[in-house]
Amino acid sequence: MLQNKNIVLGICGSIAAYKSALLVRLLVKAGANVQVVMTPDATNFITPLTLSTLSKKPVLTDYFIPETGEWNNHVELGLWADLFVIAPASANTLAKMANGLCDNLLLAIYLSAKCDVYFAPAMDLDMWKHEATQANISKLKAFGNILVPPGNGELASGLYGEGRMAEPEEIIDFISAAIKKKLPLINQKILVTAGPTYEAIDPVRFIGNHSSGKMGFAIADELAALGADVTLVSGPSAQVSKQSAVKRIDVTSAAEMLDACVAHFKNSKACIMSAAVADYTPLTVAKQKIKKSDGNLGIELKKTVDILSLLGSQKKAGQILAGFALETNDEEKNAVAKLKKKNLDFIVLNSLNDEGAGFKKDTNKITIIDSALKKTVYDLKSKKEVARDISNKIIELIKG
Ligand code: CTP
Repeated sequence: MLQNKNIVLGICGSIAAYKSALLVRLLVKAGANVQVVMTPDATNFITPLTLSTLSKKPVLTDYFIPETGEWNNHVELGLWADLFVIAPASANTLAKMANGLCDNLLLAIYLSAKCDVYFAPAMDLDMWKHEATQANISKLKAFGNILVPPGNGELASGLYGEGRMAEPEEIIDFISAAIKKKLPLINQKILVTAGPTYEAIDPVRFIGNHSSGKMGFAIADELAALGADVTLVSGPSAQVSKQSAVKRIDVTSAAEMLDACVAHFKNSKACIMSAAVADYTPLTVAKQKIKKSDGNLGIELKKTVDILSLLGSQKKAGQILAGFALETNDEEKNAVAKLKKKNLDFIVLNSLNDEGAGFKKDTNKITIIDSALKKTVYDLKSKKEVARDISNKIIELIKG
């Protein structure tokens, strides 16, 4: 959930600041880019050197950088951040945040930030219970800031009670769960196919095609990043999912892909068939390697099942089915014919006449045509960006 997220971690003056070192380490391990910002008081509890070493970035404490005469741009940092996490959040900083005070860099970033703000308070139990603190927390919640609740236990004062900062692991779990809940495709089961199929001729030869699987894998990764529960049925491909949540099923032939798709489609909210499925397969597969002879060799082929058409005929109300059309001529006409014939909600058209589109490339140029024949033409983009556009179409149809 935190992979590639830009996180500003604000650290306030509190004995719990020693736990921030572990928090930074866990955030970095989760793949986040962490920029630590400390209040001047926080530096009395933990050294910026420890945190800059762990975050692999200089720690910011001041508006001004005396060595260069420059200043730290709080607006830029506020906009850079995907998340602003304040842990530990002291009673003093919470009070200033609640009242718009701005006498240090951390507070200036808070006021400039457009992203979600999580705060994990740390203080003594009486300070925590005080009406003033509770009023400030209510105010922050009303601003939309998110409280990471403190724990109960022994406090630095020796007293027992509420006010201990949540443990770093708990903070990470809390934030991850909150992010997950907000994802647009959470709990949606989506089936994606990718790659070519190989149709055996004999034990050593097959009929295949040039599909690399890049587009289908990018779609599966993007949908998973948006929270979907993705099953990826892949023909032979060297691609690897970047999202560990993608459940991959490897198949070889069109017949195996058919079985896997039929088994998974009934429980799926949506299916995107991006695989380049063979239209024909050898009528018989030779048991032994076919030996060379003097004359020509003919291989009789039989039609494979059109998986997409079959799923289209099984589609229930509320299910979304999308296919691809790779065309060389009469592109739109052919794509619309496939959309209708296969009972699709939308078809993704790519033309081999477009520079940068097609097999093995890292880019693609698509047009999406939906069942209302609404046509959206997209620019040439990376396959990751194209996957995002296709995912957005799925989100649009799911949200109705
Ligand atoms: N498809 C499928 N099963 C097949 C063949 C194709 O599910 N046996 C799917 C592809 O995954 C793609 C869509 O159908 O999403 C269109 O594939 P394409 O090869 O462009 O079209 P075909 O229907 O095979 O027609 P043609 O090859 O004649 O253009």
